[in-house]
Amino acid sequence: MSSSVPFLDLVRQHRSIRKEIKEAVGGVLESQRFVLGENGRALEKAVAKYSGTKFAVGLASGSDALYLALWAMGVGPGDEVITTPFTFFATASAISRLGAKPVFADIDAKTFNLDPSQICSKITSRSKAIVPVHLFGLCCDMDGILGAAKKHGLSVVEDAAQAFGAEYRGRRAGSMGDIGCFSFYPTKNLGAAGDGGMLVTSSAQRDQKVRLKRDHGSKIKYHHELIGINSRLDELQAAMLRVKLKYVGKWNAKRQRIAARYNEAFKNLPLQIPFTPDGYQHAWHLYSVLSPKREALSRFLEIKGIGAAVYYPLPLHLQPCYRSLGYHAGDFPVSERVVREILALPMFPELSGAEQDRVIAAIRMFFKR
Ligand SMILES: Cc1ncc(COP(=O)(O)O)c(C=O)c1O
Repeated sequence: MSSSVPFLDLVRQHRSIRKEIKEAVGGVLESQRFVLGENGRALEKAVAKYSGTKFAVGLASGSDALYLALWAMGVGPGDEVITTPFTFFATASAISRLGAKPVFADIDAKTFNLDPSQICSKITSRSKAIVPVHLFGLCCDMDGILGAAKKHGLSVVEDAAQAFGAEYRGRRAGSMGDIGCFSFYPTKNLGAAGDGGMLVTSSAQRDQKVRLKRDHGSKIKYHHELIGINSRLDELQAAMLRVKLKYVGKWNAKRQRIAARYNEAFKNLPLQIPFTPDGYQHAWHLYSVLSPKREALSRFLEIKGIGAAVYYPLPLHLQPCYRSLGYHAGDFPVSERVVREILALPMFPELSGAEQDRVIAAIRMFFKR
């Protein structure tokens, strides 16, 4: 009863597939082929199939996936790209790295995702793209977002970094916009043993463009058609991810069962629980609740030995590095309230029933005091 409940424990997952991982890594070491080999190609094929797209390109990170996706859609200096202020920094920095300007639009109070009704007023003659972020593993209202994009001739790059395997009305995250981006950062639902990322698309032209750009703009060794970068997913990561891809559906289903249990247990408490609209399949990268008493709740859980964390404490429009964009506190009231009240609870497939019981008991106890 006294042991703590970790917010996330990656060791348990590794133990469950240790033998396969060792074989996969051993195979790469025996081949001594570390960059752009058969594992990367096989993983690209498998992820494209899984996502319901024609192509996938392995990259060094999810951040690079966003950068290269926006580049492939023609985003550059002077352009504006609309996105959410309530996301991880990499969503907006990909836009800035291209010399374009992030333009924020507020989120929906129940889903924490970009609110399509907030987008239209942000569109100008410089708008080029929208980046919806499927935050915590829940897809955005893609019909609304794709509708706005179509109406105004904008590209859509999905930030599906946290949503591998999530679904929206029968379509997988990443397959709905022009390009979808995944992160394989170790803590993600499909996580590597280091950095990694991938983008998916059904356009052969975009696939070829990104393939060229990720490898120094070179198809023939030492001949460079354009000024590219080095952003390749290495073979060790790809080999491990091929093993994990076989299990991600099962792991996501376990996350769904834990979330359902939490939802049921918390439904009568003065706590805003995550909302999953009909027809959406949540990937539950994170399970986050909202409470005006967030600070006290967080301290209480810490004393009880229960891991909890805040994603994210400061919205992007108020980040020091984005002061020059000219935003102020109060510009995005929903995002600003959410950052004050949000708290993520332990959520990973291997979280035991007894540990879930402890999380539930502690939360109930907090509100009964
Ligand atoms: C929403 C979101 N976008 C982008 C990224 C960037 O991915 P990476 O860490 O693989 O660069 C992350 C994860 O870190 C993320 O959570």
